Amino acid sequence: MDRVTTIVDVNETNAEQTGFFCMRSKPDADGYRRKLHWLKRRFSEGLKIKIVEDGGHQGFIEYAPIEHAWRAVLGENYMVIHCLWIDEHSIGKGYGSRLLDACIRDAKAQNKSGVAVVTSSGGDTGLEPWLAGKDFFMKHGFELADQAPPSFELMVKRFDDRPVPRFPGDWAERTSKYGKGLIVIRSDQCPFFDQAVQLIAETADEWGLDLHVVNLADSRDARNAPAAFGTFAILYDGKLLSHHPLTKRDLMKRIESMRRS
Ligand SMILES: CC(C)(COP(=O)(O)OP(=O)(O)OC[C@H]1O[C@@H](n2cnc3c(N)ncnc32)[C@H](O)[C@@H]1OP(=O)(O)O)[C@@H](O)C(=O)NCCC(=O)NCCS
Repeated sequence: MDRVTTIVDVNETNAEQTGFFCMRSKPDADGYRRKLHWLKRRFSEGLKIKIVEDGGHQGFIEYAPIEHAWRAVLGENYMVIHCLWIDEHSIGKGYGSRLLDACIRDAKAQNKSGVAVVTSSGGDTGLEPWLAGKDFFMKHGFELADQAPPSFELMVKRFDDRPVPRFPGDWAERTSKYGKGLIVIRSDQCPFFDQAVQLIAETADEWGLDLHVVNLADSRDARNAPAAFGTFAILYDGKLLSHHPLTKRDLMKRIESMRRS
């Protein structure tokens, strides 16, 4: 017999017990506790998390009104998807579509002008971009609204004729203001960033590099971030090294290649 599939809304009252899908096997980890704390302050801003469940948690969607979104996108009256993720063992069962449809229905019920999402193909890096690709969203009626370096796309599903969101465009200026050295910009939006920063700190220590960590305090900081991803970036000497966590080896390879260029 097929298991019953339900969609659970995470909110102020059940977040402690339900969690938020990611890192659910490590609820005592610093990253998990930090995200939970972050999340509790976001519900009043309209952030939603929906988890798809069929006897166990199989995936989730997280989204927020653009005015409070933690991605570097500008616009009005849109809903912005932060994350959509289905467990690799549950891919292809229709769960991603159900979560996306639930988000679209919610955005329409709130009289939004549409839904936007930042996607990435990974560009020429060949590395996991920490964002879904655009194809799935295109299948669901999203269209390309804007692009940002190195490989970000802003996909939108419009409900009306009002202006669609866009990326800011002043990336070089945003990046250069951080100056020289190794800088990590991070937030508590993703529980995996905590470990990632620790790894970068260890690598910096091994290589005798000074590391400066910048914590994003609110969604305005994220909208002003030097990469469209908003919530995480590694900079080296005023240039974007990566918008997502890296292994020690990849981090050093990229620093060396930037030093040579
Ligand atoms: C993209 C993703 C959400 C799709 O979820 P899913 O539950 O497997 O998708 P569904 O079963 O609802 O698929 C529905 C349709 O979309 C298609 N589809 C699924 N994934 C697709 C993809 N990556 N590209 C294009 N089409 C895709 C399916 O073939 C299916 O088509 P059909 O209806 O004609 O049969 C899922 O693969 C995923 O989580 N990928 C990783 C995303 C990621 O990296 N997120 C970053 C963390 S926030």
